[in-house]
Amino acid sequence: MAIYKNIAVAGATGNLGPAIVNALVNNAFQVVALSRSGKTEGLPSSVKTVKVDYDSKTSVISALRDNKIDAIVSNLPQYDQQPALIDAAIEAGVKRFLPSDFGSNVSGNANTAKLPVFKGKLLTHEYLEKKESEIEWTIIANGVFLDWGLGKGFLINTHGGPTALFDDPNNKVSTTTLADVGKAVAGVLKHPAETKNRSVFVQSTSISQNELVAIAKKVKPELEIQTENVDTEELLKTSYGLLEKGEEVMTAMFNFLKVSIFNKNYGSDWNDKNDNALLGIKELSQAELEEVVRKNL
Ligand SMILES: NC(=O)c1ccc[n+]([C@@H]2O[C@H](COP(=O)([O-])OP(=O)(O)OC[C@H]3O[C@@H](n4cnc5c(N)ncnc54)[C@H](OP(=O)(O)O)[C@@H]3O)[C@@H](O)[C@H]2O)c1
Repeated sequence: MAIYKNIAVAGATGNLGPAIVNALVNNAFQVVALSRSGKTEGLPSSVKTVKVDYDSKTSVISALRDNKIDAIVSNLPQYDQQPALIDAAIEAGVKRFLPSDFGSNVSGNANTAKLPVFKGKLLTHEYLEKKESEIEWTIIANGVFLDWGLGKGFLINTHGGPTALFDDPNNKVSTTTLADVGKAVAGVLKHPAETKNRSVFVQSTSISQNELVAIAKKVKPELEIQTENVDTEELLKTSYGLLEKGEEVMTAMFNFLKVSIFNKNYGSDWNDKNDNALLGIKELSQAELEEVVRKNL
């Protein structure tokens, strides 16, 4: 069993946080949610929520010390807040830090690392490497959230307009359900030695856009799915252009994410080599995959 017992999840109430908290609770960890707002929606009643001011080091250190926190899982959307959180964790004697990442292979692929959307994540990785004699770290790379990406219309557009098919739609990419990302976090904390100071790679499945569209047509025949082809190199150029002009910065950032996922040179398929077995992630069967698509479209 893990040498860790008390786990703090910073930003536990958003898109990903509840799945992580549930997996930790199911694996008998004691979970403390660190929260700016004090919100508790979506969290099990056994979880203690502690309000913190991330701008105050003493506030964060007391929350961590008072609850004897062994490891922190960060879901903070403001990635550049994390170096201060890491410093507080070191002072409070926290042993392991899992940064807010949960997507692309940011520091392991030179093209991905250059994308402006990953600046804060990369800065955090560099900071963790600098501090690794004082605190251990693990980064989780899981690709797109499969269920979340379907629900938001990101993978198949059900919110009006065509579904974009990027480059060759037969290219496969790794994708992971929120529940499996939660399992990966619990798996890391149960295997501290094997996951120390490295990125781990997980997937619920590796799938192409054409395969996803085919499943969507099968399980939701009533949906009219129109598609349009998009060249990610063009998207990249347009997005740098928007940044230069200071226009539609959010659109540009979102486009950079699409490039990192769908352009083959950005390394988003780890089907051949991943940490599923170590971390207890079982790939979805075809029937389970169809159910995820049916439920979330
Ligand atoms: N791979 C994918 O497809 C994918 C998709 C989405 C997200 N992600 C990644 O998953 C991680 C978590 O993202 P998320 O979407 O779950 O985050 P989120 O929902 O935007 O925020 C998580 C929580 O952080 C707290 N928070 C919000 N704004 C904050 C601020 N300015 N400062 C401090 N705390 C703040 C809130 O909790 P409290 O009110 O309780 O403090 C919020 O519920 C990120 O690393 C993100 O990049 C990956």
